[in-house]
Amino acid sequence: MNEQQGRPVDVRMKLNTAVSAVVSTVLFGQNYKHNEADFANVADTFRGIGGAAAMNYWLWLRYLPPYSKAYQQQIEAMHSNFNVFRAIIAKEKKDNPENRHNNFIAAYLARRKELQNERFTDHQLVLTLSDVFPAGFETTATTLRWALLCMCENPEIQKKLHAEIDREVGRERPPQLDDRDKLPWTEATLLEVQRIAIIAPTSKRVCPGEPLARMELSLFFTALLQKFRFELQPGTKADLRPRCGLTNDTRPFVLCAHPR
Ligand code: HEM
Repeated sequence: MNEQQGRPVDVRMKLNTAVSAVVSTVLFGQNYKHNEADFANVADTFRGIGGAAAMNYWLWLRYLPPYSKAYQQQIEAMHSNFNVFRAIIAKEKKDNPENRHNNFIAAYLARRKELQNERFTDHQLVLTLSDVFPAGFETTATTLRWALLCMCENPEIQKKLHAEIDREVGRERPPQLDDRDKLPWTEATLLEVQRIAIIAPTSKRVCPGEPLARMELSLFFTALLQKFRFELQPGTKADLRPRCGLTNDTRPFVLCAHPR
């Protein structure tokens, strides 16, 4: 964003990449460098699942057009994602034969050795990664996209947050988790964004990633506002209607991130 120096930028992929680095580190370890093409495929599958969500409820829809085509695409994308995760597991086994506990895959393999439990299959591991990896970045990145869109729509609030961050954190160091107590306006704004955007509508199940998500949202949002003033690309208007998929996403928008 800095390189763009205030020129219009589509933040979707940038936010996805930045946020996914956190969950990748937890799941795959510090050394994992994702291949953008593989990653885009995983992200697209997640969006596609939303578009074809009706099939989760009425299974027979998969036999009828246009669902039959969407179903076929989903199956193909799922297998291609499985291949991405299989390759990561194979590399982890090769690079870390002792299964030192520095990422989720290593911890899983170590536990399997310890318990000699046949339920700890490689395929089960692939399925778990396919679940947690997209769940761990798409929701958080979507919330940040809504937050930036809301900042563009509410320049007065943005100004207030800039002042709070300048006063409490300054511009010389990155924000830390400890700063959250000193940033009530920034934290309240994030809560308000989540209330308005309703990324994941009513659900009975609890999100196991919630504590991590809250930390990530605070750090990313504060760091972005510390560095930039956001506005929509001149001449464009925000469309605040959600795009319904597996999550309630933003509609496409282009913003200008002016370095502060
Ligand atoms: C702002 C960010 C996030 C939001 C709004 C969110 C929301 C949710 C919601 C509503 C559910 C329940 C879905 C259901 O009923 O099936 C859920 C489940 C889940 N979330 Fe999150 N989540 C976020 C971030 C994360 C992160 C960072 C992770 C992991 C690192 C994560 C991992 C999961 C997993 C694995 C499940 C499935 C749990 C199960 O099988 O019951 N989420 N999330």
